[in-house]
Amino acid sequence: MAEVIAIEGGHKLNGTVVVSGAKNATVALIPATVLADGPVTIYGVPEISDVDALGVLLKELNCNVALEEDTLIIDPTHLENISLVSEAVDKLRASYYLMGALLGKCKKVTMRAPGGCFLGPRPIDLHIKGFEALGATVEFVNGCHVIEAKELKGATIYLDFASVGATINIMLAAVKATGRTIIENAAKEPEIIDVVNLLTKMGANIRGAGTDTITIDGVESLHGCDHEIIPDRIEAGTFLVIAAAAGEKVIVQNVIPQHLEAVTSKLREMGTKMEIVGDSIIVYGGLDNLVATDIRTQIYPGFATDLQQPLTTLLTQASGCSQVVETIYPERFKHCDELNKMGANIEKCDSMAYIHGSTPLTGTSVQATDLRCGAALVVAALIANGVTEIGNVYHIDRGYSNIDQKLISLGARITRREID
Ligand code: EPZ
Repeated sequence: MAEVIAIEGGHKLNGTVVVSGAKNATVALIPATVLADGPVTIYGVPEISDVDALGVLLKELNCNVALEEDTLIIDPTHLENISLVSEAVDKLRASYYLMGALLGKCKKVTMRAPGGCFLGPRPIDLHIKGFEALGATVEFVNGCHVIEAKELKGATIYLDFASVGATINIMLAAVKATGRTIIENAAKEPEIIDVVNLLTKMGANIRGAGTDTITIDGVESLHGCDHEIIPDRIEAGTFLVIAAAAGEKVIVQNVIPQHLEAVTSKLREMGTKMEIVGDSIIVYGGLDNLVATDIRTQIYPGFATDLQQPLTTLLTQASGCSQVVETIYPERFKHCDELNKMGANIEKCDSMAYIHGSTPLTGTSVQATDLRCGAALVVAALIANGVTEIGNVYHIDRGYSNIDQKLISLGARITRREID
C-alpha cells in the first residue's frame, strides 16, 4: 500500500529536534561489517527503510542480524556468498557497497544492478575501474555484475571524479588486498571518515581519510568491533531549512557544526539568524526579509547537492532571483515542477534553476520523486496556505527517520494515510 502525508501549513514550529545517525554512513557501514570475522555492533542506527533493505540482504548472505532500537549487531561468521539478485538490491543504490565488501572478503561477488533515486544517470564505472585495478575481472551477465579475482593486489587508482561511492567501494575491496592501495582524488565527505573509523577498529590499516589521497595497506584479517555512527548532516541541514522557513525558535540537536558550515553560511547570507551552542544549532526562523542568494553544489566541504532541493524551497520565499547551479547531478531538479504546482516561480535551464521570489505557496497534491525532493516538499507544505498532500512518501522514509513524529513534536500538523 502506498502512503501519503498531509501537512497543514502555517503553524509555527518551536522546540528541539534530535538528529539521527547519518544515512549515507549507515548504508556503507552495514555492508562493511561482512569483512569482519566476528560480530560487529553499530550504535546510533537511524530508523530508515534503507537499513531494513540492507538487513534483508545480509540475512540472504547468512549473516546474523539483530536490531534493538538503534543498536544493530551483525555477525558475518557464517557468511555464505550467494548471488544477490533479490529485489532488496533494487531498493537502494548503496547495496552496491556489498560488491566491494564481498570482493574484499571472498574475492568474488555476483550482484544485480543497484536501484536508488533517479537523479539522472548514476553509473558505477569508477567503482568497476577500481576493482579491475586491484586485479578483479568484471563481467555483466543477465543483469548482474560478476566480479572475481584470483588475488587482490594493491594499486594506485585515480578517480576521474571524487565519487563518494567509488571511494568507499574501492576501500572495502582493498583493505585485505596484498600490498598498498592509493586512491587519488578521493572523496572527502565525513561519511567516508566514519567508514574508515569502523574499518580501522576492525584492524584495517588506512591513512588519509578526509583528504584527497587515501592510502590502504592490506591486512590478513579483520575482527569484530563496536562503532557509533556520526550524526546525519543532511537530515540536520534539512531541519535547519525547515526551522528557517517555519520555525520561531527551533533547536537542532546532535550535530557536528563543522559538517554544516556550507549550509549555515548560506542561511546566514539569506538573513536567517542562528546560534551554534556545542552540538546544537538554535535557529530563529521567519520568512520576512529573506534575501535571494545563489547556490552552487560542490563535493564536500562545498554546498551539498542533497541540500540543494530543500533550500530551493526556502529560496522561493526570498525577495529577488536566486540561481542554483547543480554540478553533481545536473538533472536533480524534479522538485521544481512540484513546487511550481504550489505557486513557486522556478525556471529550469540545463543544470541550473532560477528561483523568482518571493511567491506565496498554496497547498495542493504533489509527488515526492526522490528522497530530497520529498524533503523540499515538506518544507513547502509547512509554510503553504492550506493542506498539502505529498505522495510517494516512501522516498522520504528512506532517509528521514520518524519525520512525522519529529515535526509533530515541533508543532506541525501532519497526518499519514494509506491509499490504493
Ligand atoms: C552519494 O551518492 C550519496 N548517496 C548521495 O546522496 C549524494 O548525493 C552523493 O554521494 C554526492 O554527495 C549515498 O551515500 C548512499 P557519487 P553516490 O558517486 O556515491 C558520478 C541522498 O539523497 N559518478 O559521489 O552515488 C555520478 O554520476 C543521496 O542521500 C560517475 O560518473 O555519489 C554523479 O554525477 C542522493 N561514475 C557524481 O559522480 C561512478 O562510478 C557523484 O556521484 C560514480 C559516480
